[in-house]
Amino acid sequence: MTPGMPQKLSLPGVKHVIAVASGKGGVGKSTVAANLALALNMSGKKVGLMDADIYGPSVPIMFGLGTVNPQTTPFPLQKYGIALMSMGFMVDPNQAIIWRGPKVAQAVQAFLGQIPWGELDVLVIDLPPGTGDAQLTLSQSAPLTGAVIVTTPQDVSLIDARKGVRMFQEVRVPVLGVVENMSYFVGDDGKRYDIFRAGGGQKLAAEAGVPLLGELPIDPRVAECGDTGEPIVRKYPDSPTAKAYLKLAATVIAETGKPAAAPLPEVQL
Ligand SMILES: Nc1ncnc2c1ncn2[C@@H]1O[C@H](COP(=O)(O)OP(=O)(O)OP(=O)(O)O)[C@@H](O)[C@H]1O
Ligand SMILES: [Mg+2]
Repeated sequence: MTPGMPQKLSLPGVKHVIAVASGKGGVGKSTVAANLALALNMSGKKVGLMDADIYGPSVPIMFGLGTVNPQTTPFPLQKYGIALMSMGFMVDPNQAIIWRGPKVAQAVQAFLGQIPWGELDVLVIDLPPGTGDAQLTLSQSAPLTGAVIVTTPQDVSLIDARKGVRMFQEVRVPVLGVVENMSYFVGDDGKRYDIFRAGGGQKLAAEAGVPLLGELPIDPRVAECGDTGEPIVRKYPDSPTAKAYLKLAATVIAETGKPAAAPLPEVQL
């Protein structure tokens, strides 16, 4: 083993570990991770959500939680039936900025190895944007079932999503598939409108030789719910967006149930 290379940790009670990632910021990774976690839970699974964004944690705000006293409050925290861990529970987000590379790796490893996650069907991990320390540590030290790559339909976002796919393929982490977020809009008439050029997620999935796991609508209530501490899947369970998430959860469950993929093809991106 290379000196300094993190050891592969085992999470004996956790059946599947799924990383939600993308090469680019702001495409909706945290939103997808939170709502997917809730949709999996509503589908009968025991679920945890680990916020691996050490500099810019999103889980506390999305779940309406803040910092707690780690001396008196056991981790992971529990809300809406999900086991949660985030740096934002320990450090005020304004202070988290002082954490640097090796500290990020240490924090990610501690979240994985020292938090008593217990028995879970799925541990969803919300990654920061890009291909930095958190991604690398996670790929090397977490027993990942696979990564879900989030993209938006625009071309510029796709270029970065390709980088995300390639990073996981290079470190031999299976890419479970692509999720296209902000894919379309459902009007009050119930009709679907493709606002951006349609088919970007499909194109990326086809290029990478992985499935398109789901397409999620653009919905102003997603942002509203994210800011008020109750993700849309829970707050508006009958909305088209919640239904799209439940469908995505079913697809993810089906994908994780499949036997491990054959060695990954070399993909020219
Ligand atoms: N389908 C959607 N419809 C409307 N707004 C959305 C949708 N998905 C995400 N958003 C909003 O877009 C913003 C960015 O989302 P989010 O924080 O989940 O992205 P991210 O990829 O995790 O960002 P970062 O790279 O900074 O971690 C948020 O305000 C969120 O509420
Ligand atoms: Mg995020």
